[in-house]
Formats: sequence, structure tokens, C-alpha cells
Amino acid sequence: MKRLLTATLLAAMLINLHAQDLKLTRENIPEIVSAMTPEEKVNLVVGCGAGWGNPDAKFLGTAGWTKAIPRLGIPSIYFADGPQGVNMTQTREYDVIDYSCTFFLSGSTFATSWDVDAAQAIGQAIGYELKERGLDVILGPGMNLHRNILCGRNQEYYSEDPLLSGKLAAAWIRGAQSNGIATSLKHFAVNNQETNRKENDSRVGMRALRELYLKGFEIAVKEGRPWTVMGAYNYVNGVHACENKWLLTDVLRGEWGWQGVVMSDWDGVVRQADAVSAGCELIEPGTDADREALLAALKEGSLSTEALDRNVRNILELVVKCPSFKGYEYSNDIDRKKHQKLLRRVAAESMVLLKNEGDVLPLKPGSVGLYGVSSYDLIPANMGVNGVNNGVYHVSLVQGLREAGFTVCPSVLRDYTNYIVSEKEKIASAYPAIYKQFFRYPRPEELIPGTGEAKAESVGALTVDLGLKQSSGTPRLSLKEQAETNEAAIITLARGTGEAFDRAASEFELTVSEKMLIDSLSNAYHSCEKPVIVLLNVPAPIETVSWREKVDAILLVGQPGERAGESIADALTGAVAPSGRLADTWPIHYGDAPSDKNFPSEVGQDLKSLITPRASREGRELVRNIDYTDYEEGIYVGYRYFTTSLTEAAYPFGYGLSYTFFNYEKASVEASADGFVARVSVRNTGSRPGREVVQLYVSAPKGGLDKPARELKGFAKTRELAPGESETVEIPVSLYDLASWNERKGRWETARGTYHFCFGTSAEEMLTDCSVKIKKTINYE
Ligand code: BGC
Repeated sequence: MKRLLTATLLAAMLINLHAQDLKLTRENIPEIVSAMTPEEKVNLVVGCGAGWGNPDAKFLGTAGWTKAIPRLGIPSIYFADGPQGVNMTQTREYDVIDYSCTFFLSGSTFATSWDVDAAQAIGQAIGYELKERGLDVILGPGMNLHRNILCGRNQEYYSEDPLLSGKLAAAWIRGAQSNGIATSLKHFAVNNQETNRKENDSRVGMRALRELYLKGFEIAVKEGRPWTVMGAYNYVNGVHACENKWLLTDVLRGEWGWQGVVMSDWDGVVRQADAVSAGCELIEPGTDADREALLAALKEGSLSTEALDRNVRNILELVVKCPSFKGYEYSNDIDRKKHQKLLRRVAAESMVLLKNEGDVLPLKPGSVGLYGVSSYDLIPANMGVNGVNNGVYHVSLVQGLREAGFTVCPSVLRDYTNYIVSEKEKIASAYPAIYKQFFRYPRPEELIPGTGEAKAESVGALTVDLGLKQSSGTPRLSLKEQAETNEAAIITLARGTGEAFDRAASEFELTVSEKMLIDSLSNAYHSCEKPVIVLLNVPAPIETVSWREKVDAILLVGQPGERAGESIADALTGAVAPSGRLADTWPIHYGDAPSDKNFPSEVGQDLKSLITPRASREGRELVRNIDYTDYEEGIYVGYRYFTTSLTEAAYPFGYGLSYTFFNYEKASVEASADGFVARVSVRNTGSRPGREVVQLYVSAPKGGLDKPARELKGFAKTRELAPGESETVEIPVSLYDLASWNERKGRWETARGTYHFCFGTSAEEMLTDCSVKIKKTINYE
């Protein structure tokens, strides 16, 4: 008996000793989960709060981290925004290290590159910076569809087309994760409006949901395999995205076979137990109230231990892959020069030449008059939490032009510099701080230097001149003298957008003073036979038709990142040939696209919705476009609508000029193991080097489901081709890629009939047409 007691005691001691020794490894995750207390499990599935404004955060100014459980050898893993670079505070108290990271171009600017290799290279660079700064998860890429041109987050996202979005995101993810760090593909899903963003319900039919809003994610998930996905703030058809089991479990994991961790968007979870049960593993940034709610739900049975354990297991599977778990010794020494070089080239190549009358571009270095407030105050890229270094470091346009050998007219420069300083002071005192915090300070009205009296004076919306003295040595030139002295006028027009706000329809239009600036400069410069060039520093379409005839060239420079001035100068001089093509349709008017009537286009600048949280939805009538938004246009978004309804666009999807010309030769389509391969040979027939974006559109047979006139089914970008050189491009298209969602039958189907495979220079201009026949309809269960 005594012997038996001793043996039992010994065994109990051994188990206890073992529990004390038990530390997380790649192999023992189930054992660890069994050893965790309910409190520890809840601690793991709820984050530790945000790093912004938190002096105790290990990485200042980053987005958050998970809780460590030292007893079981579980370390914290650390997150930073994304997607335009690693967002963290650049300086720290008692520390001389420069923590700045490379501020890459905005998503919508990058998308116009149509360059999958560049996406991979940028992802690779950002992932490297993240790892060498000591973090584990980059919160990007962002890739919701551009449903409406006014959406406040369009600059973070790529395009109105899901294939272009999905392919770029997948490559970015592959590049970033090749460093052994995690990405977080966001915001899943149907996040297409910022007004009332945490309460708005995106009401969308199943076909549009499948073919447009989920399609990009499906491609990115299947081809990129992100380690994490971030749920969206909005509701999707009545259920909050972060609590939506259908989205997070049935589709993402069930249908797409994805394994990984879903994290909520920051403060995106309302019902904690529902989120955990739906398959949202991590509640971010996490509060004590979240932990208490989960423990209470466990106790009363509304949250099952199985669901919690599954989430804990998935988080641990992620933790063991991360650098923090592996004890990676990060260097804090990142090679920004190499990444800036990459950025400078990709940004210049992403620029879209919209007009180039009389081949005024490329421009030879000389003296230029630089006009428009934004020429001296560029918006380098997306600001806010998804920006980097608060956008403070960037190469100005003046510096970029000077480095390229230009003289920037000193008289004009001086007028603008003085004017901007005084206007910004006025704006700062007139608007509450929240406007600054959300980068919603209005831009100063435009000015026409060298007209009117030398005193501060406003005529309607237009400030005609300054009352400020020129610094000594700079003679003040009249507008006529400016046109006589300079070789060309360059005007920059800018628009900013940012998280939490949509643009108002009025921001699509040019202001009165912008129009007057264009009028005055084109009169003055054209009388001297000098060209007027407009740079569009915008992340999304603006109105162009009313003024484009008055200028000679228009270059969409987008939001090119921290080497902005140099990238723009490269594209203007042709040091790098701009080879971007539009990733969105540019309409003639706001109101031309069918989604325009179901979008809060008048709310725009109103910050009240942020300051005052909206009343609960319960027991009141819901407000259209605020509490819910009906996606009545179905699949007819962007070019799918414009090309099918023959609605004229200012510039179609896929459009962009070049400094050279390309011929398309020997187009063909052949059957392959799982579908088809389309081929074409592209020859540079002009006199300058350049890259061509090859776009493959497919028109489906008439008969079955209603189809858009054509859809993008593949694309590729050639290498830089010297004059006379050619490259053969191959684009695979699987039968599944041709499928549509049959709502009645609840499945994908590729209809039988004749398909036209066309290579085009935009969604409107087809150059070749090869047809193929599919004999039998294929259904996908
Ligand atoms: C944004 C996310 C971001 C998160 C953490 C949220 O407000 O919607 O995109 O990753 O904050 O900074």
C-alpha cells in the first residue's frame, strides 16, 4: 500500500514537473493547448492594445502585438501597418537610431504599373524592413475593389477589377513572406465605403459578391497564401464581417482551403463570442472588456471550448513560424537606399501618360514655371495609420526637377512658398485638430503668381496675388514675363483621401481657382508657343474633360511615395519611360457610373460622423447609404458597365500612352491542360525604349447568364524593349477563370459556346480577336 502511494505521488510530481517544463515548439501545439487555462486562452485570442501614443510599446507607433505567456514559452508577436511600408515612430527617447522605413507608393498608384514582378519586389522590400526592425506581421496588402471612385480608401486599394487586384496582391504577399514574416490581407470583405464605416451594411447579391468582391481575395489567398487575413469593419449582407461565419469559415477556409489566422480590424468586433465562433482568431487591438466578455461567454456556454481551442491552436501555428518565436536577431539596419531606388523606378513606371499633344514630353531640361499649390506641397502617398513616417520624408518636386537639370522659376517659387505658409496658418487656426489628425485639412485655394497688385487680395475663390515681399535678389515677374522666360509651365493638381472619410462628389470636380489657373496659364504660355503640362497628384479619378483641351500634356503621377520628386522628374524627362495604364475607368461626370446613386457622395468632408458615434441600429429606421448601401449595379462596376452600356468614359480602364509605339503580331489561342494559352508578340516600332502592358479581354458567348461586353482575363508586362525589339507574351486562362456564378443554381459554371480572346490597349480598344469554342457547359460544385 505504501509503495503504491509513493508511486502515485511520484507520477503526480512528474506530471507537474513536466507542465512546468512544457514550452511551445512546432510539434507540441496540441499539448500546449491542453495545458492552457481558460484565462490564458482568452489572453491569447485578444490583443494587447495599440502601439500608437503608447510609450511602453516595444515598437513605438506600431499597430499592436499579442500577449506573451512565458510559462508556456509563448512569446508576443508584433504587428505594423502596412501596406505602403512599415509604419512605426521614427525616433525614440534616449536613442539615436533612425527608425524610419521606406514610404512606398499608394496602392492605387502602384496598380497602374500592372507589374506583378514589381509587386513581388516591393512586398519583398517591405517584408525585409519589417523583419529587420524586429516585427512579425505586416498589415497589408489592402485590396478591396474600387466600387465607387469616391471611396476614401481607394488609394490603399488597387483597382475596379478583381483579377488585377488579386494578382498584384498575391505577388506582394509572396514577396513579403519570402522573408519568413507574415502578411495580413485586408479588409475581408466588401469594404467599399468609409462613411459610417463600422456600421454600414454592404448589401450585395451573390453573383457580384462572388465574381467581383470576393474574386480578388480568392486569387490572393490561393496564389499568395497569406499567413493572416484581416476582417473588415463593415457588415456583409446583415452580418458583421469579423463575425461572419459564412465569410471566415465556409468560404475562406472551406471553399478556398486557406489555413491561417483571421484578425479583426482595429475595434472591429462588436460581439466577441460571435467573432471567435465565426473563425476570427484574434480580436484587435484588444481590451480587458474583450477578455471579460469571452470568459463570461465561456462560462454561460454561448462560446464553446472547441471554438476557442481551435482559434488558440491556429494562433500558435502562426506564432511558431514568426521571427519573434525563433529568436531572430534583427539588425535595425535596413538598406533604405536600395529600396528607395526600387521605389523611384517603379513609381516612375507606374505613371500614366493621359495626353501628349505634339509630343511635348519627354521634356528637355530648361527653365520651368512650376504652378499649383501642390507642386510645392505634394501628397507623396497615403497618410494616416496606413501611411509611413507620417509622410514627412519625401523628395519635393522642386528638388527632383533641379536634380534632373531644370531651373524652377524663382519668382513663381517665391510667391508660392510665401503664400502656402500664410494660407496653412489660416487653415490651421480655422479647423479643429481632428481635421489635421485625419489629413483632412483643406488645401489652400489656387493662386496665379504675377497677376494683379502686390497685395493680399481675394476675388471670389481665387487669390490673385500676394502681399508678401519677395526675398531680395528675386525679381518679380508678371505672368507674361514668366511665359516669356520659361520653356514650359508645369501645373500640379492634387487630391487627398484617407481612412475614415469618403470624398464628396465636389472633390471630383476642379475648383473655380484651379480652372482659372489652367485658363490663365494656357493663355499666357500658348501665346508664347510654350507648352502647359499638368501633373495629377491624385489617388483616384477627377474630372478632366472640361479642361483637357486647354493643356498639352497630362501625366497621372498618382501618389508616388517618398522619392516623389525624382520619380516625377524621371517620367517627365523620359529617363524612365512611364508605362502605367489606368486601373480604373475615369468617367466624364460623377453620376455616370451606376454605383454613384448608391454611395454617400454628399457626405465627404463632414467629420461629425467620427466625432459623434452613430445611434444604435436597433429600433430606428435605417438610413440609405449610411446604415446600409445597396449594390444595385450588381456586376456592372467600372468598365464592365461602361463597355456594356456603351457609356463614354473620359479615359477607359487600361488606357495609357507611351513615349514609343507597339505593334501586336501573331496573336493566337491554344488549348492547354486546364483551359487555354493566349500568345502575342509585341514589337516596339517607335524610336524610344519602352515597356508595354499586354491586356487580354474575353467576351463570353451570348445566351446563358447576362455577361459584360468583355472582362479582363489576363495581363502581362513586357521587359523594356529597345526600338525594333519584340517579346512574345503568354497568358494562361483556365476554364474556371471563365466561369460565372449562377445565382439560381448556387454554383460556378463555364457556359458552352464561342469565346472571343482579344488583346487590347484598353477595355475599349481591341487589336486582335481569336475565338475558341467550349462544347459543353462545365459546372463546379
Ligand atoms: C485600419 C487597418 C489598420 C489598423 C491598424 C485600422 O483603423 O482600418 O487598415 O491595419 O487600423 O492600424
